[in-house]
Amino acid sequence: MKTYVVSGAASGIGAATTRLLRDEGHRVVTVDRHEADVVADLSTAAGRQQAVERVRHVADVVHGVVPCAGVPGLTGVDPGLVVSVNYFGAIALARGLRPQLAPGASVVLLASNSITCQPGWTAAVAAACLRDDEDDARAAANEVDAVHVYPATKAALAWWARREGVKDEWAGQGIRLNAVAPGLIATPMTDRLREDPQLGVFADAYPSALGRPGRPEEVAATIAFLLSDAASLMVGSVLFVDGGTDALMHPLRPEGMDVHPVVVGVLDKVSSLATRARAMRRRR
Ligand code: NAI
Repeated sequence: MKTYVVSGAASGIGAATTRLLRDEGHRVVTVDRHEADVVADLSTAAGRQQAVERVRHVADVVHGVVPCAGVPGLTGVDPGLVVSVNYFGAIALARGLRPQLAPGASVVLLASNSITCQPGWTAAVAAACLRDDEDDARAAANEVDAVHVYPATKAALAWWARREGVKDEWAGQGIRLNAVAPGLIATPMTDRLREDPQLGVFADAYPSALGRPGRPEEVAATIAFLLSDAASLMVGSVLFVDGGTDALMHPLRPEGMDVHPVVVGVLDKVSSLATRARAMRRRR
């Protein structure tokens, strides 16, 4: 039996992850604003400190942390709140519980496929997050609507997992940092998106190879895999769990990604050879 800490556990993906881990026989210490073992507000420094202290009080050794608590970038949502909960709330939990993490432990951050699939998000917010400057990140966020801030906080989480995950403090001590990037998952968060007077129309605008939204249990299964010893080689990975949305939108590479022209040439050649091979097969 292992001990895991899951925030945002009262709802959606956090609740599904908690159920799955408990069904597997593990102990899960839940953190949320309500209906949790540790009730705390992760939007403030004081609330984060309280959350970490209370978890430490009930668990000396932790084998995995899943900071799931998040707020969506919807109409009327304070963009600063999106920054504070999504990025700083998640990182504070991972960092704060670092002393409790045993070798072999794992942290799984909740990124999002909006990083690659939603255009026009605010890079300055992600940059300030990665500088650990909450005031600056909130100030940059307050320049735009929350919808442009949400993917920035998720990109920062994914990049933090990559940048920090390889360091001696984490991978060097046998503690793996990774992220999942879910697409549209049917949870109370996306129910709220559908009800949004301006953004609701975009809820089903993104393509899905499976033709349906994801289920929270499907993301929970990926998180449980990343927490497990089966993922022992995975460090700084960002797993897309989105029914093929990112693959449909970027079959070769994310737009704007700086790919060496030689690589582009090779990919174009492979793609035209495949087209010719298909045409020849059809003619035969
Ligand atoms: P949800 O809205 O169902 O659950 C979020 C949970 O976070 C709630 O229980 C809420 O009380 C908690 N929370 C919010 N603010 C908090 C605060 N200040 N302090 C403590 N807890 C707080 O959301 P869902 O859909 O389960 O999302 C979970 C995570 O997955 C979020 O980080 C979200 O950004 C991410 N995600 C969700 C996707 C989706 O389509 N549902 C897609 C990609 C990422």
